[in-house]
Amino acid sequence: MTETRKLRSRAWFDNPDNIDMTSLYLERYLNFGISLEELRSGKPIIGIAQTGSDLSPCNRHHLVLAERIREGIREMGGIALEFPVHPIQETGKRPTAGLDRNLAYLGLVEAIYGYPLDGVVLTTGCDKTTPALLMAAATVNLPAIALSVGPMLNGWHKGERTGSGTIVWKGRQMLAAGEIDDEGFIKLVASSAPSTGYCNTMGTATTMNSLAEALGMMLPGSAAIPAPYRDRQECAYHTGRRIVQMVHEDLKPSDILTLDAFHNAIAVNSAIGGSTNAPIHLAAIARHIGVELPLSDWQDIGHKIPLLVNLQPAGEYLGEDYYRAGGVPAVVAQLMGQGLIRENAMTVNGKTMGENCRAATIEDEKVIRPFDQPIKEEAGFLVLTGNLFDAAIMKTSVISEEFRARYLSNPNDPEAFEGPAVVFDGPEDYHHRIDDPALGITPETLMFMRGAGPIGYPGAAEVVNMRPPAYLITEGVSALPCIGDGRQSGTSGSPSILNASPEAAANGGLALLKTGDRVRIDLRKGTVNVLISDEELDARRKALIEAGGYAYPASQTPWQEIQRAIVGQMNTGAILEGSEKYQ
Ligand code: FES
Ligand code: MG
Repeated sequence: MTETRKLRSRAWFDNPDNIDMTSLYLERYLNFGISLEELRSGKPIIGIAQTGSDLSPCNRHHLVLAERIREGIREMGGIALEFPVHPIQETGKRPTAGLDRNLAYLGLVEAIYGYPLDGVVLTTGCDKTTPALLMAAATVNLPAIALSVGPMLNGWHKGERTGSGTIVWKGRQMLAAGEIDDEGFIKLVASSAPSTGYCNTMGTATTMNSLAEALGMMLPGSAAIPAPYRDRQECAYHTGRRIVQMVHEDLKPSDILTLDAFHNAIAVNSAIGGSTNAPIHLAAIARHIGVELPLSDWQDIGHKIPLLVNLQPAGEYLGEDYYRAGGVPAVVAQLMGQGLIRENAMTVNGKTMGENCRAATIEDEKVIRPFDQPIKEEAGFLVLTGNLFDAAIMKTSVISEEFRARYLSNPNDPEAFEGPAVVFDGPEDYHHRIDDPALGITPETLMFMRGAGPIGYPGAAEVVNMRPPAYLITEGVSALPCIGDGRQSGTSGSPSILNASPEAAANGGLALLKTGDRVRIDLRKGTVNVLISDEELDARRKALIEAGGYAYPASQTPWQEIQRAIVGQMNTGAILEGSEKYQ
């Protein structure tokens, strides 16, 4: 292939004006089996941004897949250089994995900007790894393609599917109700993780990989392939081949991550029943590529779209079923049939979303429903506002019949309810006090979690979905309305109102709330308001500021302190403010 454009890596390896530096760059890379001729030949140099490690078990299979990526790269005439990305593991990282998304982003920007790379393969998987890598690729804007590690195989226990995370929420209730013991709880949870790969439910990992494909950043049909499947290996090989071509075509993230692409991703998120973490991450990616994506787009574009994918926690099935039923292309094709997809959006294979998905069919209608037979109508997020926060979201696709009957059944006002607040300051406070009868929690109570946002609990904790006290669970009340400034795991089936911005730690309205205040929620109007006067609210705000603001725990590491000083709120992506100007 003749190259008319000079590749980026030539500035390191072929710089006649500075032969000193060129020789210095060249000699170290020779140490791992690349010949001098090859390095000087003008072959594209492709980075493999490796997120797999023993600390990142969800992505660990990428260590194997990288071999197939390399083969693809070499066969197309490229040179592969694999390098590590700061590990992020959703369930193991303290205090939160959310803290590390922006750190991995920063590290990866430096790696791909500062080294002789012409293109990069992004090995995505566990929740935060996918957005961190897409954010970095957006900032540096060199040809990039994502490869999902794929979900785990389906989990099974006593003949029923056990889904990652979702089974934990259910198991906790069974444990609180005395239906299982500690040993039984651990066995039940372990059954949901039968193989390598990421969470097999429609949690944040499956969501963000589906959305990476819907954005056009992944080969069509590849997001849903389970990690251990042969097809996954083959996909790694084709991803390696394709990135070399993308470098020759100079197909960059800015050609793919357009406003149309983000609107497609929002539509797909509703149809798959995607995670409430998606608006945060998509806002972050959009800001790093310079696209305006207000939170209101989620309601304007996403809310009317029905739920088509029957995966836990909103539905019944798991990752293997999703892949066999047709994965993302089958979902996109259903939405395309209704004119809900911007078909001209470009994708990594050099074709448009419309070209890639037009012929895709549903292979199992129990798992992916046709558009006219949805699992739920209007399944997207609601965006809420009021005197406790400027913006928060609610995942309506997981509102259960039980919840609807208890809170949304007033015939005169079917979308509104109110009740007394019980306020917790962070997850530790909640765990200490939840089962204390002195709190006086009743089925009318609204439970609030604050101090759990990007500043308060650095990175924002996934803690807003709170189980009711054990005494209520034994009486059959399995869920209470939960509202908070933290996040919630995508594997949770709770219809919480969450990601409230600004958070209490930024002295947002939640910091003014007191246990016993009455709060009214109106889903039709999209409001959440504490029912006290503006004067009282002002007086409380004055007292809070005089007392030094909302108190939160001290930082334990340098990065916690650095990020707390510059991180933005979740409604605008919780990015490092100021970093977007380098897009
Ligand atoms: Fe890593 Fe769910 S914990 S994907
Ligand atoms: Mg999570």
